[in-house]
Amino acid sequence: MDNGFVFKDFFKIKSGKVQWRSPSNIALIKYWGKKTGQIPTNPSLSFSLTKCFTTTTITFKKNKSSFPKYHFLFHGQKTPSFESKIDNFFNKILKYCPYISDIEMQIESYNSFPHSSGIASSASSFSALSLCIMEIERILNPQIDDTYFFKKASFISRLGSGSACRSVFEKFSIWGESSIISGSNDLYALPYNKKIHNSFNNLCDTILIVDKSKKEFSSTKGHKLMSGHFYVDGRMAQVESNFSKLIESLQSGNYDMFIKTVEQEALALHAMMMTSDPYFILMKSSTLEIIKALWQFRRTSGSKLCFTLDAGANVHIIYPRKEFNNVQNFISEKLLSYCQNGEFINDTIGTGPLKL
Ligand code: DP6
Repeated sequence: MDNGFVFKDFFKIKSGKVQWRSPSNIALIKYWGKKTGQIPTNPSLSFSLTKCFTTTTITFKKNKSSFPKYHFLFHGQKTPSFESKIDNFFNKILKYCPYISDIEMQIESYNSFPHSSGIASSASSFSALSLCIMEIERILNPQIDDTYFFKKASFISRLGSGSACRSVFEKFSIWGESSIISGSNDLYALPYNKKIHNSFNNLCDTILIVDKSKKEFSSTKGHKLMSGHFYVDGRMAQVESNFSKLIESLQSGNYDMFIKTVEQEALALHAMMMTSDPYFILMKSSTLEIIKALWQFRRTSGSKLCFTLDAGANVHIIYPRKEFNNVQNFISEKLLSYCQNGEFINDTIGTGPLKL
């Protein structure tokens, strides 16, 4: 089955240069657990960020060998640790993008956020790389329209890293089949283009950098531990229900339901890690102190802020734009001491990837 994404046209490669910038995203409903072929076990929902992005440039020319040939530089440096992931990615997409074996690529990538900040970069990296590959496809076949362009970019991004497939759209995206979103499927993400209550159109995400060290346990390993997990059935039922509740809150503007769902998802993700075999803990004591201080602040101030976590110790504080000043005061008074070197990043819901 080729899913309609195999490039079949006759093509003649010359040389050229393509460049895309693509954001990271933060999941509110978590993708945790996958089946063979990078198929998620549940639907997930995220929003794209603005300031945390990867910029990738591919300069290409005709290749004389019959397999994809590339040189990769990250922030101007050769970074062999990334190469096995890229090799893997090219092997997986070759069937859909056969023209990559006809070119020799110089790939240069830059992150807007420090590589060592503990912020996951696979979503922005693989989406930026996939958009560049699709830009090469568009040179070969200028007929493709934007809908196909982004759909296939999402499809191939997924093969690099699951969460990357949600980064090719602005604002909210959905990945994974769900009976409540028509067209949703496991192979690529969709932009969430149903009604969104005004209060969710200008969300802020302040990322508190609790721990910058490399994760002791990769997400890829964590996903695998969901198969055979004791609580998997319960988690699948919970995530389905949370997915519906989040959609409902986004549409109705029910902030209390939004907060409860987002925080339960974050804690459920970490509960799965803490109860898998082997079990592991990615939160640090500062992560817990931040959560406790945030709950206390919410109780006393009536603020609508909440937190989420990805597969690490950093805390994402999510809140509406109109609370920016209050939340910033709260962070500088109560939370800075929990951040490594007092570091945090003020980000917002984003406008999606950009062709440069
Ligand atoms: C906790 O997309 O990094 O951030 O598909 O193996 O590359 P791979 O995993 P990855 O997992 C992300 C997990 C998460 C939740 C989410 O983004 O939905």
